[in-house]
Amino acid sequence: MSRTFTLSRTHRRVSNEIPLSYPDIDDTDVRGVIETLRSGRLSLGPRLEEFERLVAKRSERTHGVGVSSGTAGLHLALLALGIGPDDEVITPAFSFIASANCIHYVGATPVFVDCDPRSLNMTLREIERKITDKTKAIIGVEVFGNPAHMLELSQLANRYEIPLIEDACEGLGGRLGRDPIGKFGRVAIFGFYPNKQITTGEGGMIVTDDDNLANQCRSLRNQGRAVENQSDVDNPEAELGTWFSHTCIGYNYRLSELHASLGITQMNRLDELIEQRQRVAETYTRRLSGNPDIIVPTIEPDVFMSWFVYVIRLSDRFTEDDRNTIIEGLRRHEVGAAAYFPPIPLLPAYREKFNHKPGDFPVAESVAERTIALPMFTRLTDREIDLVCQTLELMMQRQTFTRSAVGEG
Ligand SMILES: Cc1ncc(COP(=O)(O)O)c(C=O)c1O
Repeated sequence: MSRTFTLSRTHRRVSNEIPLSYPDIDDTDVRGVIETLRSGRLSLGPRLEEFERLVAKRSERTHGVGVSSGTAGLHLALLALGIGPDDEVITPAFSFIASANCIHYVGATPVFVDCDPRSLNMTLREIERKITDKTKAIIGVEVFGNPAHMLELSQLANRYEIPLIEDACEGLGGRLGRDPIGKFGRVAIFGFYPNKQITTGEGGMIVTDDDNLANQCRSLRNQGRAVENQSDVDNPEAELGTWFSHTCIGYNYRLSELHASLGITQMNRLDELIEQRQRVAETYTRRLSGNPDIIVPTIEPDVFMSWFVYVIRLSDRFTEDDRNTIIEGLRRHEVGAAAYFPPIPLLPAYREKFNHKPGDFPVAESVAERTIALPMFTRLTDREIDLVCQTLELMMQRQTFTRSAVGEG
């Protein structure tokens, strides 16, 4: 007997808590995944191909290669570029740890670069200072989705003939002038974790115009099978005996048809999702920019932001401890908040291994001490944004008051 599924329209949050992020899943997403489940084809099928086409088109690239995460995509890009032990790769001090871990995976050495205090992206001068004969790639991240200086960065990489790997995991849909994010590097990587502009639950995508690099990534994500042998073992179109023909040692970094199905329906709504995130960001900026103790994100006129997170910075009057107490206060009041990002070279995972010490990355360190990421997702209402802002300002006042009371006592 066949059963009819009743889909609830909303897929909404149930508690009063305002989380830091929340995925926007609608009925088209749910229906798509159910249809995929019923199709009998769950890996390496038409959904993956369609999702790859959509993301490649959006970033004006020839190829899209779907992978199981943004981190997996970065790993494969480095492998496909032939980077390995004895090589150095330049990467931001101020980013998510995956921008550095991928370098470690291939046995190369991450060389960290400090950030610009406005855009929070790496400064070009610092990059140039750190280029050596061993530099084999630069990982350029659009921090929090901001593509500022990406054109100059790709020109610099070209001048030194060093491949630029664009870690675009935070920026899908953004633009610098007419150029979409994902178009700046020799290869670019997107990530689709649930806090991103679109989500596949887990997932990532490599995009490039380089046929050879795309083919290598396709092979490496699928256990080193040659590109001609990418279809599933059960696929009737597959040639007999090709499924167990491995031409190199690869990985299982495949993106399933279920994930790809979600990717397609989310991509079809990308502009709508970006618009809603933009509404949230603009409302925060209007509400908070008058406060002298709050620095709102700086967006250059040629940048179109596809908002990933909304990160404010507290003024120098606040210490790192103050900031942490304010975040704890927000969370106690059921408002999601987080300190985005601690500088990577000073994290326990990197600090001792590379002998980094406080003061090595002064801008990233000073920025990181005072950042607060506020809730950012499409369905955040104006009333909720106001509540977040009120709670933030209350926690800030409380902290200033407690500190001066303790100081005076
Ligand atoms: C800049 C950056 N790079 C890489 C990644 C890794 O992506 P994933 O979590 O999909 O592995 C992220 C994820 O948040 C990111 O923000």
